[in-house]
This record gives sequence, structure tokens and C-alpha cells, in this order.
Amino acid sequence: MKVAVLYGGTSGEREVSLSTGQGIIKALKNKGHEVTGIDFSPKRISEVLQLDVDLVFIGLHGRYGEDGRIQGLLDMLEIPYVGSGVLASALAMDKAKSKQIFSSNGIQTANSKTYDVSNSDWHKGIQEDVKKSFSLPFVIKPNQEGSTLGLTIVKEENQIAEAIKTAAKSDSIILVEDYVGGREVTVPVVGHKGSERALPVIEIIPKNDYYDFDSKYKPGGSEHIVPAKVDSSLTDQLQREAVLAHQLLGCDVYSRVDFIINENNQPIILEVNTLPGMTPTSLFPDSAQEIGWSYDDLIQKFVELSVA
Ligand code: DAL
Ligand code: MG
Repeated sequence: MKVAVLYGGTSGEREVSLSTGQGIIKALKNKGHEVTGIDFSPKRISEVLQLDVDLVFIGLHGRYGEDGRIQGLLDMLEIPYVGSGVLASALAMDKAKSKQIFSSNGIQTANSKTYDVSNSDWHKGIQEDVKKSFSLPFVIKPNQEGSTLGLTIVKEENQIAEAIKTAAKSDSIILVEDYVGGREVTVPVVGHKGSERALPVIEIIPKNDYYDFDSKYKPGGSEHIVPAKVDSSLTDQLQREAVLAHQLLGCDVYSRVDFIINENNQPIILEVNTLPGMTPTSLFPDSAQEIGWSYDDLIQKFVELSVA
């Protein structure tokens, strides 16, 4: 099959996507596909417009890649692509909107609030409101970003201004959320709409305080335990909620759903990643390996699900 892989991009997660893209290209070649790789940016849209391929594999992360925009372009060109469509991608990228959907459907999320920081008057009013609405520690992050970029766990009030500034570099809407302490787990979901299955739950033990950018992508930055050592009823609940979250947003083919298990052994959903990392240190391939699917098999599976 003729497959184009879009990777790289211009979001904060460009470096991650370069690695994801390399992995996907190699796997597709190993499976005998004819592959064209495009390090994508708006400047290269004309190349996308001229593509003569059977399928596009989007290996991008973050804005302009994971948020529905490129999916919309491919829809207009009537080129099939792997993964979720416009609406699901846009919803999943918007943490606040997707949290509303989860909590109104019985999936527990951390209490949160968004603030528009596009206007330079935010300094006083927003800081005061954050102090009033949240008790320490809490999290400040960009509403639309990935790989924990721009995220601060605020432990003291004097960190608030800096944390807002950091988050505002990635997005004009910031999300402030109760900090949920506990175990970090994630659940890959694969399948056609309506017949998805969850893969084994993975627990992440970061070497740093939490699963930050370095723990995610530095070799040895974190330990993945697959399957996670959680009892079978909690495993069932995590897998059920992961599939439900994927379906509620209208995702397709694959996604990875992140949770914290809090002190009361309750899963608190963090987000759905519609284009989860597929780098050598990524979680999704590790979980697939546990059920006997190699990295190459997994990529081939996504291709088959996308054209069937
Ligand atoms: N946003 C990164 C790529 C992930 O969730 O894997
Ligand atoms: Mg993410």
C-alpha cells in the first residue's frame, strides 16, 4: 500500500513526533508498504495537497497534528488517514471540554477551572481567583498541550504567577486542577468504532517527582510495569472507563487514556491522547508487546483498521 507519514510538525512536541515518525516509517517499510515521509509544517501543505497515496499515517503530536486540523484537510482531500476524525481529535486536545464530557458520564475527573490569559490584565484577578478556588498543591497547565509541557505542580502560593506564565506560553487558555496524588497508569484502546478493546494497563514509575518530559522520553527516565499490579476489579474498571472515554469523544482506531489511581483506589481520568507517542520509550507499544504484538504488528494493525 502507498502510505504517507506526516511527522515532526511545529508543536511543542515536535521532537517527540520526530521519534514517533521514524518508528512508524520503519515499521511500515518492514511490513512492505511504499512509504513517503513528510516532516510536516504549513509550508509543506502543498505536498499534502498533491499526495497520491492510499493512506496517511499521522505521526504528529499536539497542535495542528493531533487537534483535528490536519484531519479536516485530509477529509476535504478525501484521503483516508489513521486514527480519530476532526471532532474527536479537537475534543481530546481540549482538556477542559473533554473533562466535562467525562464527568457528566460518570468518569471521575479532578476538580478544575479554566482561565483565559490572552489578555494581559490577568495578573491580579486570576491569581486571586486561583488562590480562592484551589488549595495547595494544585496543577497549572496549558489547556491544549501534550507531554506535560508547560505544567507546574504548584506547592506554594508564590509559584502561581510563574506557573501561569509558563502555561500561557503554550496556550491562551490555562487549566487549573486539583493535584491528585497516587499511581500513574495508562490504558491503550484499539479497534473500530463500537468494537474497541483495551490493552493491558501500564503503570508508570517515573524517576523524577512525576511523569514529566524527561521521564517520558529519556531512556531509563521511567519504569513501565505491564500489566500494572492492580487487582482485577480495578483493572476492569480502568479498561472499561478507557474504552468509554474513547467512545464518548468519538475516537477511532486507537488512543491512549491516562489516569491517576488516587489514595482511595479510584481512577481519576487525566486525558485521552488521540495520537499517543510511538517512540522507543513510549507506553502503547509496551502494552501491545505484552499481548504478543510487536511494534511493527501494532502499526500494521492500525493500517488494517483504517482501511477496512
Ligand atoms: N502526547 C504524547 C505524545 C503522548 O501522550 O504520548
Ligand atoms: Mg497527552
